[in-house]
Amino acid sequence: MSYDHLIVETEGRVGIVTLHRPAARNALSTPLVNELGAALEAFEQDPAIGAIVLTGGDQVFAAGADIKELQEAGFVDIFLADFPHGRAAAWKRMATLRKPVIAAVAGFALGGGCELAMACDFILAADTAVFGQPEVLLGTMPGAGGTQRLARVVGKSKAMEMCLTGRRMDAQEAERAGLVSRVVPVAELRAEAVKAAATIAALSLPAVMMIKESVNAAYETPLAEGLRLERRAFQSTFATEDRREGMAAFAAKRKPEFKGR
Ligand code: HXC
Repeated sequence: MSYDHLIVETEGRVGIVTLHRPAARNALSTPLVNELGAALEAFEQDPAIGAIVLTGGDQVFAAGADIKELQEAGFVDIFLADFPHGRAAAWKRMATLRKPVIAAVAGFALGGGCELAMACDFILAADTAVFGQPEVLLGTMPGAGGTQRLARVVGKSKAMEMCLTGRRMDAQEAERAGLVSRVVPVAELRAEAVKAAATIAALSLPAVMMIKESVNAAYETPLAEGLRLERRAFQSTFATEDRREGMAAFAAKRKPEFKGR
């Protein structure tokens, strides 16, 4: 499939999706988001891919929803389209992808751009990264997880301040607040993200998927329920060939060869 607003590549077992609408600062228009959904779906279905990197390149991650596209919309338009969920399948699909997705963020990740990064499994930030939820400055509000994921990650005070005032957070503050896993020089962002994804993609895919499911459960279930789910997932890794291989390789002092079985 060819894409107008994305660059889609692979490096080994890593799928790389680069948002590519530079003239509009990678604003998340419906065509772009539809393409993103298709690209993510293709990687999710491809057994040759073990992890995904989502980036906007080294200038900008994404400046949010396409304001010009939304400018003339009325409530009924947005409601009937169930924007952003229904109209652009990627938003809905992001939440159900089972393979890990790493956001590699350089430059602005604003509004829907910040929400898109937060919908990934972790965020690797360039030292140029800037995060913000400026929707209030447009007379609206976050609509794809900005008030929910941000509050869960950085806490109420920071989330409230950012959403209520539109104040942006730089990479260092984002790292202190736990929004990003770490900050790297912008020139190294892509390579670092691909390296992390390649590390994951070389491991046991069933174990990786169970870990992702379990960590996500920490945000959606009471502790006792999450611990029970984790324990059951841990126990079920003992049904995989990969778990047997991993422990046998450790005992034999050799590198494991995981098959994803
Ligand atoms: C449509 C956008 C855009 C956007 C930038 N552009 N952001 N078009 N939607 N979100 C366009 C500009 O109109 C301009 O087009 C070109 O991209 C370059 O933008 P500049 O502003 O000249 O660039 P710069 O000075 O580098 O500033 C970059 C920026 C700024 C800081 C990212 O563009 C900005 O503040 N953008 C809006 C950010 C925002 O408010 N996001 C929230 C959107 S609402 P022309 O044609 O003039 O060259 C949202 C709701 C989410 O995300 C709901 C769920 C999905």
